[in-house]
Amino acid sequence: MTILATGGAGYIGSHACVSLLESGYDVVAVDDLSNSSAEALRRVEKITGRELKFYEADVCDRAALEKIFREQKIDGVIHFAGMKAVGESVQKPLEYYRNNLDATITILEVMRQFGCKAIVFSSSATVYGSENEYPYREDMPKGTCSNPYGWTKSMSEQILCDAAKADSELSVVLLRYFNPIGAHESGLIGEDPKGIPNNLMPYITQVAVGKRKELTVFGGDYDTPDGTCRRDYIHVMDLAEGHVKAIKYAMEHAGAEVFNLGTGVPYSVLEIIKAFEDASGIKIPYRIGARREGDLPEFWADASKAGNILGWHTRRSLADMCRDSWNWQKNNPKGYEE
Ligand code: NAD
Ligand code: UD1
Repeated sequence: MTILATGGAGYIGSHACVSLLESGYDVVAVDDLSNSSAEALRRVEKITGRELKFYEADVCDRAALEKIFREQKIDGVIHFAGMKAVGESVQKPLEYYRNNLDATITILEVMRQFGCKAIVFSSSATVYGSENEYPYREDMPKGTCSNPYGWTKSMSEQILCDAAKADSELSVVLLRYFNPIGAHESGLIGEDPKGIPNNLMPYITQVAVGKRKELTVFGGDYDTPDGTCRRDYIHVMDLAEGHVKAIKYAMEHAGAEVFNLGTGVPYSVLEIIKAFEDASGIKIPYRIGARREGDLPEFWADASKAGNILGWHTRRSLADMCRDSWNWQKNNPKGYEE
């Protein structure tokens, strides 16, 4: 079975490529390298001892995608490719809608052209918006997103579900990720953000490695146990393994299905700092700053559906997440850049 991983050179895509190759799938990756490095895929090959096929291309480029489908026999697609910086999406909404929606539509069109019937999509907990009570369950209505990035996920979900409604043989699995952190246990691949990290864990690891002076905790006066926001952090390798379960499910069932991929357990920002300090032995200087606009006080997943239907369970602890994030950063202080 051959899986096309769009955005396969990215943070989550590269880890999922490892899990897919180790589970016996052949992998074709396509990425325009706009937010990643081809080095990640070389390291995936090193970790797994297997080769994968790589195409450097924009998935909105229909001719380029058709070429891939003509040259490779693609049995299923995992669609990771997309722009993902929340703040940037507020500044550049049209670029986000163009790239993320065009990518989803183009992939669906080319899949239809070549008779490919299974797609797994990288969605986000952000589609629950601010209206829902936590823990979030898949049967809750989607909510109002606070930024264009979130809307591209919500709209892509709609497009995929409509496509599945129109084609009774098409299978769509929407995976709503909570907060992926950590890295492959080898320390060879991990998250390599460009510029100042927006997300918590890469910021912490850059403070630990001496690249940034201190962490600003966004808000200490929330109505949460310690006043800081709580999130459902999930090890990226647990998340990666969820994709192997999801693509198998997609190949065996037509129709659209949605799954949360989270642990079901929230941790606060201060708890993450403490866990990271314990795992690394490094003190993280921080100060409590203002709240960040658009942040919710807390949310986490009800992850039981993925457990019951996909047989997927997380296996790695918060200590594992911190150890592996640190192992990656410490071994690669400049990321993939040599
Ligand atoms: P990433 O930026 O590391 O990976 C995305 C990849 O897609 C990058 O390698 C980028 O170069 C590529 N890409 C973007 N547009 C492309 C295009 N038009 N054609 C070809 N390649 C293109 O991000 P990630 O963290 O690995 O996220 C993967 C997916 O999961 C994204 O869709 C993201 O929105 C979604 N997601 C991520 C998180 C998270 O916390 N990281 C949470 C929820 C959802
Ligand atoms: C963010 C996005 C979400 C996206 C997800 C993964 C927002 C509002 N939400 O989620 O749409 O799917 O990333 O890319 O941007 N924090 C600090 N200091 C920092 C960085 C973060 O205190 O320097 C706090 C935040 O306030 C938050 C927690 O750490 O409470 C996690 O933040 P982050 O990693 O950015 O993830 P989310 O905000 O949950």
